[in-house]
Amino acid sequence: MKISSGEIMKIQSLARAIALSGILIGSPVALIVPAEAQDAIIVIDAYKLGVRLSPVQHGIFFEEINHAGEGGLYAELLKNRNFKQGMEGWMKVNYPGATSEFAREGRQPEPYMHVAVAGTPGKLGGIGNGGYYGVGVEARKSYIGEVEIADFAGSGALQVRLIAPGGEVLASQALKATKGAKLKFTLKPRRTQADASLAFVTEAPGSFTLIAATLSPKKKYRNRPNGLRKDLADKVQEVKPSFVRFPGGCYVEGDKLANRFQWKNTLGNPLTGRIPHSNLWGYMSSNGLGYHEYLQWCEDLKAEPLFVVNCGMSHTDIVPMAEMQPYVQDALDAIEYANGPADSKWGARRAANGHTKPFNITMVEIGNENGGRAYNERYALFYDAFKAKYPKLRLIANEPVTSRPVEILDEHYYNTPGFFIKTSNRYDNYPRTGPKIYVGEYAVTNGCGQGNLIAGLGEAFFITGMERNADVVSMASYAPLFVNVSDRKWNPDAIPFDTLRSFGTPSYWVQQMFSANRGDVTLKSSITRVKESQKPIKFPTGGIGVGTWRTSAEYSDIRVEQAGKTLFDSNSELDSLKPQSGAWKKQANGAFRQSGLEQDCQAFIPGKEWGDYTLSMKAKKLAGDEGFLIMFHVKDEDNWFWWNIGGWGNTRHALEQMNNGGKGEF
Ligand code: AHR
Repeated sequence: MKISSGEIMKIQSLARAIALSGILIGSPVALIVPAEAQDAIIVIDAYKLGVRLSPVQHGIFFEEINHAGEGGLYAELLKNRNFKQGMEGWMKVNYPGATSEFAREGRQPEPYMHVAVAGTPGKLGGIGNGGYYGVGVEARKSYIGEVEIADFAGSGALQVRLIAPGGEVLASQALKATKGAKLKFTLKPRRTQADASLAFVTEAPGSFTLIAATLSPKKKYRNRPNGLRKDLADKVQEVKPSFVRFPGGCYVEGDKLANRFQWKNTLGNPLTGRIPHSNLWGYMSSNGLGYHEYLQWCEDLKAEPLFVVNCGMSHTDIVPMAEMQPYVQDALDAIEYANGPADSKWGARRAANGHTKPFNITMVEIGNENGGRAYNERYALFYDAFKAKYPKLRLIANEPVTSRPVEILDEHYYNTPGFFIKTSNRYDNYPRTGPKIYVGEYAVTNGCGQGNLIAGLGEAFFITGMERNADVVSMASYAPLFVNVSDRKWNPDAIPFDTLRSFGTPSYWVQQMFSANRGDVTLKSSITRVKESQKPIKFPTGGIGVGTWRTSAEYSDIRVEQAGKTLFDSNSELDSLKPQSGAWKKQANGAFRQSGLEQDCQAFIPGKEWGDYTLSMKAKKLAGDEGFLIMFHVKDEDNWFWWNIGGWGNTRHALEQMNNGGKGEF
């Protein structure tokens, strides 16, 4: 809607109305807009109050995925800093004339790295760590570190150096290494380097043995010592989230139970005291960013912590009901750690870790995306235990269960922009008597590249629907939050970053806009298109096609007709239907048969601008799992629509859109 000076717009007659320009709210005003400049009139009635927004309407979803934490939000720059992940991340560093060898010795949980430097006396050799896709350092900024030395037998000092890939020394410091020393150092690189490494070198002949080493920017978010990378944490802060869901996602479950998130393994001395685990997103979690740090982050953000507990279910295994008690107890202990008094068993651990006051967890989700009978049974165990000990905790379920009441239900949506636009009215007529809804994960994931404006608009549409129905949808969080661009396991994400830089996608800014500019109450509004007749709607155009998915079928009498005119008839011009994939062949009776059982077999007519037509055909299934795919508005192989009849193993029908190579339900 263009706002410019001119004649008085029609909304003048609506004495109580105001327009969305935000110019005046609640006054009987006229907004000055020339009638011919208007596409639509948006009327917001400031006297008709809708529902109140929930105090926790918008939050964030943090998952350890895409190196979101490790090599991301967590400010540690070295990978495998205590050798608990074998040799991963470490390499030999030899200057001409020196040869070093290194080996990991000792057993878990106290391994150490022994380095022997041979070669011409006085020449430097040792080991280096390339961090997570490079150690990113900025010119003249301070980087602080520490190294724990088990043993040192060298003629010179132990030198710690920041080096560029070509070997250039960006900063260095000589350390007085002795057996058992814990030495701190500060390095200020002379120039910026996105992919530096940190090296420990000594003169040949010599040797040294390290227990652990750490490096991080001196300046961190809120200056917490074991803290967060500032640019990333600041971006989250700007969203002003009212809750933080952590630590996932599927990350909570693990590909198998052994790889689930275990909060007790994430307490203790961040440098050497934590037990790492392999996570289902394909990398190791050092757990330096652990349960305590997540809670501290929530407190710093003034956001309510929403902890997701593993409910005895992973992606591949389930704990037998008879063995569930330790899992339930573990979850209760987690709440005691966060909320218990400093003289309770786990509250005392929290106090010992530097936080005497409780953190105050208010919400717990029982499992992530778990379901079925197994979930129903296990939900009841956790529900009873939580209610007995912490009756005020708000409990969130993954799906509707029958075993116990559901207070809040978590729904997840990943789809096309069109889906979110169309689904924005999902909650308008939703039952008001059931549980509150938490849309715990949502994002446009199809047809949006690595995040674009259309994706943000789709989500914004959906958010307006959630806010309009805030009496039902009391919470929502976009997912996922972060992606290290060197390990994009999930796309898109709100905040992409590399070793030095970060930015928000349009989806991030949509979150920021809605969350940081929170209303108290919704107002009744309406949109009316004006001059409809002068602005005809432009229908999409394109060719047509047919397809199959793990199914053999034949199509005949395919016709495209428009206003009594035939644009295409397969009986006379079947050759125009161009097979793209699959085994298509014309039959003696004129039918077009796809005989293979592969997925995604297509034949279509490209290069047409047909619109507003009737497409008809006969379709016959011959074999396979599914039904028919009827294509329309086909531009090319990356841009089309299809009506999927009998999709998903012959269980559902849907309209789907392929938009620039990304497919999703429309
Ligand atoms: O947000 C990424 C993943 O999507 C989460 O781990 C999971 O819960 C969902 O399937």
